[in-house]
Amino acid sequence: MPLPKAELHLHIEGTLEPELAFELAARNGVELPYADTEALREAYRFEDLQSFLNLYYELMAVLRTERDFEDLADAYLARAAAQGVRHAEIFFDPQAHLSRGVDMGTVVEGLWRALGRWGEDKHGVSTRLIMCFLRDESAESAMETLDAAKPYLDRITGVGLDSAEAGHPPAKFREVYQAAAALGLRRVAHAGEEGPPEYIAQALDVLGVERVDHGLRCMEDPELVARLVRDRIPLTVCPLSNVRLRAVDTLADHPLPAMLDAGLLCTLNSDDPAYFGGYVGDNFHAVRDTLALGKDRLRELARNSFLASFLEDDEERRRRYLAEVEAYEFP
Ligand code: ADE
Ligand code: ZN
Repeated sequence: MPLPKAELHLHIEGTLEPELAFELAARNGVELPYADTEALREAYRFEDLQSFLNLYYELMAVLRTERDFEDLADAYLARAAAQGVRHAEIFFDPQAHLSRGVDMGTVVEGLWRALGRWGEDKHGVSTRLIMCFLRDESAESAMETLDAAKPYLDRITGVGLDSAEAGHPPAKFREVYQAAAALGLRRVAHAGEEGPPEYIAQALDVLGVERVDHGLRCMEDPELVARLVRDRIPLTVCPLSNVRLRAVDTLADHPLPAMLDAGLLCTLNSDDPAYFGGYVGDNFHAVRDTLALGKDRLRELARNSFLASFLEDDEERRRRYLAEVEAYEFP
């Protein structure tokens, strides 16, 4: 039995495995510029975040109907459950679909068909949805996206900020985060993946985020680290992603052990597992094997994932999950 854990940094579009991409392409009459799944996998050699994003957005062309989003989310939950995920807070990128003529209802209703009570009963995974704004699009577009989401807010727990980080500071999205907070939405943002430590501070100060996605580059600023430790700000760290997108040279160079030693509240996550060579359990195995993290550290990462999750509306469930972590016996 795998260690029970929550996944807090997972882009549902980044779970599109090549096999499903081809299946959906055939179902929807979409032509993919790759001969087969092998040729597509060959394209998974990324130089940086942007080179990944180009392929990530290109492949989304196969996602057209509610059923497509349902199948995508159902396949993720099955894989996640098999790796010990008990709770998942799932990002989606509506602007990347709205711009292709797929409306908000199709995306949210489709995802919800696989999540919600169904997902919980079928896979034993509780879920929340976090709607991300694309930071390389305008602030106006983000505000329009928030407006388009208003009929679906009963299914959306929070907002996030993703896509190309460099040159797109968090402060650009001050107003839309204010509006999201006024609607009762939780707030997170990618910061310090490729962008500088100042973007992490800005996400906290200007956007009021409660959790930082990646946050890796905080390690360049000891005062920022002290602040993150003091305020118990969770970081959703994604080691296999960082290797594939060259945020670090090799997994052995990953700062996760130093981050934990500094007292940061780190969680372990997969980001875009179909593209980066592994789901969240694979990330746990990788840091255990390559960074020599022992059982106490692995348990700490699992515990942190539930402490950092947006389960304030169901504290009894959080306690149950935390008890599972403490009772877990490593093989
Ligand atoms: N969208 C999907 N994955 C992402 C990542 N790792 N960083 C920024 N935007 C993303
Ligand atoms: Zn991400």
